[in-house]
Amino acid sequence: MKHPIELKINGDTYSLAVDPWRTLNEVLREDLHLTGTKLGCGSGDCGACTVLVDGRSVSSCLTLALEVQGKDIQTVEGLAPSGDTLHPIQEAFVEKGAIQCGFCTSGMEMSAAYLLSQNSSPTEQEIREGLSGHLCRCTGYIQIVDAVSEAARKMKQL
Ligand code: FES
Ligand code: FES
Repeated sequence: MKHPIELKINGDTYSLAVDPWRTLNEVLREDLHLTGTKLGCGSGDCGACTVLVDGRSVSSCLTLALEVQGKDIQTVEGLAPSGDTLHPIQEAFVEKGAIQCGFCTSGMEMSAAYLLSQNSSPTEQEIREGLSGHLCRCTGYIQIVDAVSEAARKMKQL
């Protein structure tokens, strides 16, 4: 039986009815068409599905939609301040060539956002640890680590 829920995502409130076993990832992608959040492994291993819930990074593939009612959910669609402006993290990913196929990118950027909210000047090792739950099959990670470091520099100038 479907349950009526309200989800607050990127500042907007969505009212919908969901089966209790459906994940936040399924609801974001299939019901709300917020497809910036990817689905990779579906088992908590790749990080592609990462979103922020009350400011903390979580795997949306392992989170039931019912669990996050009333919480503040942020997806990559809500990272940039407006439709025609990139977030400094996104700018840095573009500038440093940290995107190839892009499948891992939204999850990487959301974990970078969490990391930089906790630590505005992370070392390379801290960035590597902050992104350790993410797999990228394309870039070799060096450009991604460079991008997060550059994003930290940009965000301090704001
Ligand atoms: S799809 Fe969620 S961790 Fe891989
Ligand atoms: S850019 Fe392709 S998986 Fe990371």
